[in-house]
Formats: sequence, structure tokens, C-alpha cells
Amino acid sequence: MSITRFLTGITTSGTPHLGNYVGSIRPSVQASLRGGVQSFYFLADYHALIKVDEPARIQRSTLEIAASWLAAGLDPERVVFYRQSDVPEIPELTWFLTCVLGKGVLNRAHAYKAAVDKNTAAGTDADADVSAGLFMYPVLMGADILMFNAHKVPVGRDQVQHIEMARDMANSFNHRYGQHFVAPEAVIEESVATLPGLDGRKMSKSYDNTIPLFATREQLHKLINSIVTDSRAPGEPKSTEGSALFQIYQAFASADETVHLRQAFADGIGWGDAKQAVFERIDLEIAPMRAAYQALINDPARIEAILLAGAAKARAIATPFMGQLRHAVGLRHLDAQADTGKKTAKVALPVFKQYREADGQFFFKLQAADGRLLLQSGAFASPKVAGQTIAALQTQGISALQELGQQVLLADAVQDSEVEAALQALMDAKTRQATVTIAA
Ligand code: TRP
Repeated sequence: MSITRFLTGITTSGTPHLGNYVGSIRPSVQASLRGGVQSFYFLADYHALIKVDEPARIQRSTLEIAASWLAAGLDPERVVFYRQSDVPEIPELTWFLTCVLGKGVLNRAHAYKAAVDKNTAAGTDADADVSAGLFMYPVLMGADILMFNAHKVPVGRDQVQHIEMARDMANSFNHRYGQHFVAPEAVIEESVATLPGLDGRKMSKSYDNTIPLFATREQLHKLINSIVTDSRAPGEPKSTEGSALFQIYQAFASADETVHLRQAFADGIGWGDAKQAVFERIDLEIAPMRAAYQALINDPARIEAILLAGAAKARAIATPFMGQLRHAVGLRHLDAQADTGKKTAKVALPVFKQYREADGQFFFKLQAADGRLLLQSGAFASPKVAGQTIAALQTQGISALQELGQQVLLADAVQDSEVEAALQALMDAKTRQATVTIAA
């Protein structure tokens, strides 16, 4: 069965709020618990540099967001949980993608355009106070996603354009250099879309209208009481349409509960009572996580260790993949056999390698043309059976793999489609040379 890779990041620019929770933290934890998925979740601290020039705030935010994710049930053993700046391959990939993306695409990015429109309206230079970092933001995000060939990216609606740009980058790169990237897709939770903040606009650090995820019960109560409503008196029917209070409730409540509150609105519930109901519903979900959050915040060394372990897992994928990409674009060792052009790079063949370990057992692996590990076998008692297994893969391709079950496994972050393509390439080439026996 093929694995679906989920990936999402949170910018470490402030204290995590309910919008981050319902839009990103909660769905990502839920996705990580499903079978058949591999999850990559990270703290986007390079992104934070675009908006924040207070070092202490970035550090604190990184701690708080990591603690929130863990308190919400993220199991770092089950997922790849890391800090973006611990993976130097990401800025390197950013540059590769910068070179294949049209500048015009970035001119049309919503965040950049909004800044330009604001400047134009104010009669100042269009790019006044716009850093090159803000302009390049979508490329860094594309690198985050493509580095791990994520299929699905859970994000808020405002980020959808960035995912489309990442698809664009993947396609442009693949078109020039061969198939390396999967085109990712955004996953938006419909019930959440965009969570409104205290003033009814999107809940966002930049609007200063957020409700911290781990406010105390008292603070939470106070903040919910300050959500804007209209001036309708108790007894007057209230509209759920455009009601921030109602939308926030909906993000936490079941479908049944939501129907009930909708009815209560129609029946003229007073705003005070409605706010009480919203507060109780949210607190019901958050309260059990508060103690875990506090314990984590008070133990930064533990979080640091978790993140470093996560970075090691991330780099076990990123480093070899970056090696493959460097080779693809022509950043190569000078003593590597010179390829005259892209075509030769594409016809280089994958290879099966059979070997014997010190324990006397026989193994084989399938490597892509660039040396990346695609398949790894388990132990075989005899070289003959190992050889027959290779032969089955060479002649029957991917269909033989299914029958082999656990005996031959896909390497980390390798997809069925890549193995299929590699086996097909071997069959097409009907190569006699494909099996090389090497000493262990
Ligand atoms: N831009 C996202 C936000 O502000 C954070 C982010 C950075 C991200 N890199 C990502 C989200 C990659 C998903 C995938 O919300």
C-alpha cells in the first residue's frame, strides 16, 4: 500500500492561538494517528525571520508552539517533528526552486500584493518596507513541502495559493531535470476554513485579535466574552451568518451541538449565554491539555532533545535527496562521469545490489540511478533465493513486489511510483548488467 505523506508548519512568530490549533495543530495530530500516513510537522522559524526581528520572541514562540503540538497529542516517535532551521537542506532547496519559478508568479502572491496595494494607496513607493524575504516567502514554503515530497498539506484557506505555487515549482523543476518532486495538495478543513478572531476578522497575530490556545481558564473566559457581537437584545433572533462567536463554536463542536446552537440563535439566546456556551465547549477540549503544556514549557531541554532527534530523522531523508537534486542540476563532483546533457542523466539505470552481511545472511537492495535507496530486502538464507527474488522483480516489476510482502520493503520516503518507474526502466532496458554482486 502506498503511504500518504502529510506535512505542515507553523511560523514561530508568536504565541499559538485557537486559529493555529483548529487549522493546523489539531488536524495534523489527527492525521498522524491514521494508518498509511507518514507525517512531517515542523516549526517554521526561518519564516518567522520575515516578520519578527525580536530574537527572544522567536525563541519563546518556538518553545510554545512545540509544547502546544506535543500537549495536543503529537507523538514524536510516530512523526517527523522538527525545527526548520535544523535542516540546512531547506534553504539550499529554496535556491534551486528560486531558479525555476517565474518572478511574475511571486508578484501575484496575496501577501506581497496586499503590501504593494497598501503602499500604492498611501502614495509611497510600491515596494516600500517590503523585504525580499516577504517576496520570497512562498519559495521557502515550497522548499519545506517539496523537500519531503509531501502529498497533503493541511493549511488554512489563506495558504492555498502557496500550495499552488509549490505545485508550480515542482512541475517546473521536474520538467527541466526529470521526475523528482510530487505535486502537493492543500487539505482544508471545511468546518474551520478560517477561524475568526475577537474582532471578527481572521484570527491572526498581525491583527492582534487572537485567543491564546493555552490561556488560563479565566483568561479564556474573559477573551471569549470580548468577542464582537451585534447589539441584539436577549429574545431577539440572532444571525449565525457572519457571527464570529458561532464560527468559533462550530470549530469545536460536533455537528449536533452546532445544530443546537443554531437553533438557540434563532430562538433569541442572549449573547451572554451564548458566550458562556462557547467558553464551556472550548474549555472542555483544551482543559485536559493544559497541565501537559505547562510541564513541557517548564522543561525546554526536553523539547530541544525531541526537536534534535526529529531533525536527525528529517535529514536522513533531506540529505540524500538533496544529493540527488544537486546531481540532477549539475552540481557534481568533477570526477563523476560527465553527463553531456539531461538526456543521459535520465537514461542512467537503477541497479540491484546483492550482498552478504557478517552474519552470513544474504540481502539485496535496489538503488535508483543516482544511488538513492529504493528497496531493501530482508535476510535470505541462500544467495539463490535472493537472486530469484531479484529476477522476479526484474521480470514482473511492481506486481512482484506486492507478493513479496514484508520480505522486500520500500526505503524511507520512497513511493510506489518511483519503484515502479525504476523497475520499468530495468525491464525496458532488458539489461544484463543490472545485477552487481558486491562484497559486504
Ligand atoms: N506559511 C504558513 C503559515 O503562516 C506556515 C508554513 C511555513 C507552512 N511552511 C509551511 C505551512 C509548509 C504548510 C507547509 O501558516
